[in-house]
Amino acid sequence: MKIYRNCSLLPYNTFGVDGRCSALVEYDTEQELCDILNLVQKGELPSPVLQIGQGSNILFTGDFEGTLLHCSISGIQVLDSSDTEVLVKVGAGVVWDDFVSQCVENGWYGAENLSLIPGLTGSAAVQNIGAYGTEVKDIIASVRCFDMREGLYRTFDVNECGYGYRDSLFKKCRDLTVTFVTFRLSTEKSFNLSYSALQQAALAEGADSLSHIRDIVCRIRRSKLPDVSTLGSAGSFFKNPLVERSLFESLKQKWPDIPGFGDNSGTGPVKLSAGWLIEKCGWKGKSLGRAGVYEKQALVIVNLSGATGEEIAALSRLVADDVFKKFGVSLSPEVLIL
Ligand code: EPU
Repeated sequence: MKIYRNCSLLPYNTFGVDGRCSALVEYDTEQELCDILNLVQKGELPSPVLQIGQGSNILFTGDFEGTLLHCSISGIQVLDSSDTEVLVKVGAGVVWDDFVSQCVENGWYGAENLSLIPGLTGSAAVQNIGAYGTEVKDIIASVRCFDMREGLYRTFDVNECGYGYRDSLFKKCRDLTVTFVTFRLSTEKSFNLSYSALQQAALAEGADSLSHIRDIVCRIRRSKLPDVSTLGSAGSFFKNPLVERSLFESLKQKWPDIPGFGDNSGTGPVKLSAGWLIEKCGWKGKSLGRAGVYEKQALVIVNLSGATGEEIAALSRLVADDVFKKFGVSLSPEVLIL
């Protein structure tokens, strides 16, 4: 492992905000987490300890007075395969899209709709990343962690991971550091075309292969979301809010075109599109200082040029306040604000 003291945060967050952390540890085996825990317990590494991936879902609003852990555990290993599926164990430090690309090359179905999502495989399992009708929990079999409080390795079956919309046990218990994720992928041809823009493009182009579906997903994603290497962001800044159906019905009286997604019973809560709410408040393409609301997707906040984390957070608070004033709906950040 490598320990860096008083280290710049710049390479470790896709918002591209500057700042320092007291210590940063790069490690590439799960055994090293035991050694890291010892150093923390002896006071040789400062607390709190936080695992980060590529920092694609974090906003630092100041210096981080603790230890950041950056995982480089690598490896994509087939554990088992049958006529219909394959079980693959992936190191938490594998870049998520590199794994998706491997799945496509190997003819493993299930991950392709999650193409091009920034971050590492471990973070994907923490965040339960989702896009175009698929959530990563749909293809996870189990998650292996090191418990930084108990000093134990633990493996959680997918049903024990507390998965929900952009939520998991690992998000709530930050002491659980993900080391490996095991995926169950299909080797039989099957695509999830439930997202209408994907379905339309797939039909129009007669897409019939994994690589073609991946290309379409990448194209849709690039058309809506900024490339973090040129424009700092963390994807969607807020979660899409879940509201009581009665509130949705009353909003629909006033705004008949408000998008709402509920279950088929027509009675339960409804998920609203935060991007639509923000756009209706007039924020799309607008900025506050050096932070802006992305012109092509209002759910994304961008660092226009050298913004501080606090400037980005200030814009997000203003946006959320306006949405609340106009619609009576609270937005909660998807991004971890530190
Ligand atoms: N919309 C607007 N204006 C906007 C953006 C969206 O009116 O500026 C409305 C449109 O009606 C659109 C609907 O919102 O039909 C949904 O928009 P979109 O399909 O772009 O998806 P989203 O709900 O805004 C979610 C995820 C994205 C994911 C896309 C596609 C969350 C918080 N975000 O966005 O995930 O890529 O669906 O599946 O659930 C991320 O988590 O970082 C992320 C990018």
